[in-house]
Amino acid sequence: MKQRLSTLMVAAVMTASFAAHAQQPAKKAPPPAKAAAPAKKEGITAEFEKFREVLEEDNPAELFEAKGEDIWKNKKGPGGATMAQCDLGLGAGVVKGAYVQMPRWFADVGQVMDAERRIVHCMVKYLGYKEEDIRKQPFSNDQRTPDHVSVITYVAAQSRNLKIAAPQKHAKEIEAYRIGKEIFAYRAGPYDFSCATCHGDDGKRIRTQDLPNLRKPAEAVKAYQGWPGYRMTGGFMLTQQWRMNDCFRQQRFPEPTYLSDSITALLAYMTVTANGQVYKGPGIKR
Ligand code: HEC
Repeated sequence: MKQRLSTLMVAAVMTASFAAHAQQPAKKAPPPAKAAAPAKKEGITAEFEKFREVLEEDNPAELFEAKGEDIWKNKKGPGGATMAQCDLGLGAGVVKGAYVQMPRWFADVGQVMDAERRIVHCMVKYLGYKEEDIRKQPFSNDQRTPDHVSVITYVAAQSRNLKIAAPQKHAKEIEAYRIGKEIFAYRAGPYDFSCATCHGDDGKRIRTQDLPNLRKPAEAVKAYQGWPGYRMTGGFMLTQQWRMNDCFRQQRFPEPTYLSDSITALLAYMTVTANGQVYKGPGIKR
């Protein structure tokens, strides 16, 4: 389906030419010296930003949004259950505004869940997806974007232009934020990195990529903005949980298990820090 869409072809061509200029993030993360390199604005960042703006007007993420909407509205599980029974925190079946109000406490499971975790939970519970299958391929690749990623994209899009408002009322929500803050600052691994090593100061960058200072509200929104994101180098959707796993890899930590408490806590920390800012919806990431 993808190849038939001219927007995607344009995206692919532009990506190719962009990739020729940009050094893509390599499989291996750069050595510590570079991680700590001070900012030096190069044309490439500005060039990418311009290019991203143009593409977002006709964002290929919409394809996945549409697929997710179809699953949410029409797919039935064994016994005829549907996602209309899924409570994302604002009542059964309410999607509008739900994405920007997670992570949150869910009394039915006695857990704080981020959006991705809650959506997978509902797809297993109501639509009969098997959690072990989802865990086999939690993230998209160029072969396949799993259904739950499309549903996440749909749900996220229903919070477009709404303010991020992750609640901090329940004791467990407050605890998740606190744990997330600790994980963010926790140094370990072969280079003694923490998230804060790369994302705790202003103006850091790795190669062509600016590293947001995620401790600051105005930049913490980058943990949110544009996610889930359509990855131009590959042509598929990636979620926040993917981003987290990839950063644990950057940090030379073992990759966390999919849908783990520590990721929910990290997302709670970064989301609450970004509270009050407007979420612009699924975006485009290189
Ligand atoms: C070795 C440096 C390094 C470490 C350590 C690191 N990251 Fe990252 N992080 C990156 C790079 C590189 C990117 C990609 C930036 C880009 O695409 O422009 C990134 C991107 C991100 C983004 C998305 C920003 C955006 O603009 O979309 C988030 C959120 C994030 N990291 C969070 C974390 C968290 C949480 C940790 C700790 C678990 C962490 N990072 C550890 C290097 C690092």
